[in-house]
Amino acid sequence: MRQLLFFSNNKNKIIEIKKIFNNFNLELLSLNDLEISEEPVENGQTFEENAKIKSDYGFNKTSIPCFADDSGICIESLNWKPGVLSKRFLNNFKSNKDCFESIIKSTKKNNKQNAYFKTSISLTVKDNQNLIFNGKIDGKISEKATGRFGFGYDPIFIPRNYNKTLAELRTREKNKISHRSIAVTKLINFLTN
Ligand code: IMP
Repeated sequence: MRQLLFFSNNKNKIIEIKKIFNNFNLELLSLNDLEISEEPVENGQTFEENAKIKSDYGFNKTSIPCFADDSGICIESLNWKPGVLSKRFLNNFKSNKDCFESIIKSTKKNNKQNAYFKTSISLTVKDNQNLIFNGKIDGKISEKATGRFGFGYDPIFIPRNYNKTLAELRTREKNKISHRSIAVTKLINFLTN
C-alpha cells in the first residue's frame, strides 16, 4: 500500500482527513505516527505559501510524499482578515468566547456579515516539486456563537444556504461542504487519476 504523509499535529483535522481518506487504498500517516515534533516557521503571506513550506519540510524529513494544508477564515468586517493569521488571532484573546464576541460586534457595527474559509493544500512529491489544491466555503458570521462540534471558528460561521453554524453540523455533514474537503477532493482526484 502506498504511503502518504499528512503534515499535521492537529487532532481534529487528522480525524477529518482520515475519514475522507478511508475509502482509498493509501496508508495515511500523520506527524503523530512518525513522532516528528519540529515544525517549520510558517512565515508565508498566503495560504498557498504556508502549505508549501510545510509539505516541502515533511517530504525533506521523511522522503514520503507529503501534503499539508493551511487554512483560515477571512472576515469582511475585518477587511477580510485574519486570513493566514487565523490561529494567532484566536489565541490572542483570553478565550474563544471573547474572540467570537469581538468578531460578532464588528460584524454588527460595520453591517458586513460575509466571511469565507479557505484551505490550500500543497502536495510535495519530489524535491522542489509541489502542486496546490484550493477549497473555499462562503458564508456569514452568525449573530451568536453556537454549536459544540468542530473546532476553531466553527461556532460563528454559517455556510451559505444553511441556517446552522458549522459547529452545529456533525463531521460527516461538515465534510460534504467544507473548504478543506473541497481541497482534499481535488487532491484525491489527482492522486487517483
Ligand atoms: P490551519 O493553518 O489550517 O491550522 O488553520 C489556522 C486556523 O484557522 C485554525 O487554528 C482555526 O482557528 C482556523 N480554521 C481553519 N480551518 C477551520 C475550520 O474548518 N473550522 C474552524 N476554524 C478553522
